Amino acid sequence: MPTVVIIGTQWGDEGKGMIVDYFSAQADFLVRYQGGDNAGHTVVVGGEKTILHHIPSGILHNQVTCVIGNGVVINPKVLIEEIDRLKAKGSFLRDEALLISDRAHVIMPWHKALDAAAEERKGAKKIGTTGRGIGPAYRSKMARGGIRFHRFADPKTLAEDVADQLPEYNFLLEKYYGAPALDEKEIVATYSEYARRLSRYMGNTQRVVSDAVRSGRRVVFEGAQGTMLDIDHGTYPYVTSSNTVAGAAATGAGIGPRSIDKVLGVVKAYTTRVGAGPFPTELADETGAHLASVGQEFGSTTGRPRRCGWLDLVVVKYAARLNDLTGLVITKLDVLDGLAELRVATSYRIDGQITDEMPADLDVLSRAEPVYESVPGWTEKTSGIRHYDDLPKTRAITCGLSKTRSACRSPRSPSAPAANRRSSWNT
Ligand code: IMO
Ligand code: MG
Repeated sequence: MPTVVIIGTQWGDEGKGMIVDYFSAQADFLVRYQGGDNAGHTVVVGGEKTILHHIPSGILHNQVTCVIGNGVVINPKVLIEEIDRLKAKGSFLRDEALLISDRAHVIMPWHKALDAAAEERKGAKKIGTTGRGIGPAYRSKMARGGIRFHRFADPKTLAEDVADQLPEYNFLLEKYYGAPALDEKEIVATYSEYARRLSRYMGNTQRVVSDAVRSGRRVVFEGAQGTMLDIDHGTYPYVTSSNTVAGAAATGAGIGPRSIDKVLGVVKAYTTRVGAGPFPTELADETGAHLASVGQEFGSTTGRPRRCGWLDLVVVKYAARLNDLTGLVITKLDVLDGLAELRVATSYRIDGQITDEMPADLDVLSRAEPVYESVPGWTEKTSGIRHYDDLPKTRAITCGLSKTRSACRSPRSPSAPAANRRSSWNT
């Protein structure tokens, strides 16, 4: 059963796009199962950079069927723009390469408007969302007042749902938030046009994905965001509105948990976070600024500068447990090149107690002081290295999970050329 879930172990932006792209070269199916266009997955192929928010990053590989699963919330405008951009570049060759779940929910204009209005109302307590309407869209879904793709795709049910739902949202927007109301006719006209463009991609994706798994096809599940942004397990309420952990691949694609073969966690060699919320290893000094500039840490969805800090292994160990990781991929190690000393948090000191547990209470987490292990850096350039044994011989690469290099090595570097197609993964 060659299926692999690829997830972020930190606060997102770990470099999942690059790893998904590597696996896509060997894949038959690539499935997004949660989140929406808040994701920003950057893939560089042949020196050309593509940022994808909605379409699974595997679209750049012609043999892959890309699936947007039932757990995703879809912004049709963004999706159409993405398709058009890829088509113009010659990277979207087959319409059959994209399949959208008839059960996925659609992000409507009132969701975006409410996201903006709620953030403004929160003032200093704002979450710092991507402003894409993700929270309000999931709120509608969970409150059983959302618009599913099959109803969006049919002009009659779309008009019916907009007429039913808009008055409540307009009431909220106008009367509670003091924001302008939205126009029903305009929404129906615009969204019917979007539906006309997108309905050809709609299908029963749960059936397609489960048939693919059962027949031994290679299926990659592409996680968005990261474990610490998970609605249940992350730094609530400074999180996104979906489950980002590996288990969500089952519910968000419509397969059983036994269909998941491997779970690969992606970890950046340091830590970043966009948006508000606690971040124990954050560096407000020149090392933080160095990581931000060398690592080009600007959000690919919002362009916001990312907050940067040392690698936090309390976070990574937490993610390893929650996701039942079978492997870990370390990205952006080269950003640390040339730093004389590296620090890695291995536990927290909270109110005088040492712990490596992630507290549920943010007030407690905000008092956490990282307990660091200091390790010497290296002066060599690590970018372009393709073999583990060519890495600088320094203890810093133990990745702190173990004192031995071999314990955290992966048999193949993710940036190595794709192997011949085979029926299992090179993890
Ligand atoms: P990828 O897939 C990093 C963050 C936002 C904000 C919080 C809630 O590229 O790793 P939302 O718009 O989801 O309601 O915002 O979550 N966030 C991300 N941070 N990478 C992402 O995606 C993110 N998607 C959402 O900055 O703090
Ligand atoms: Mg991103």
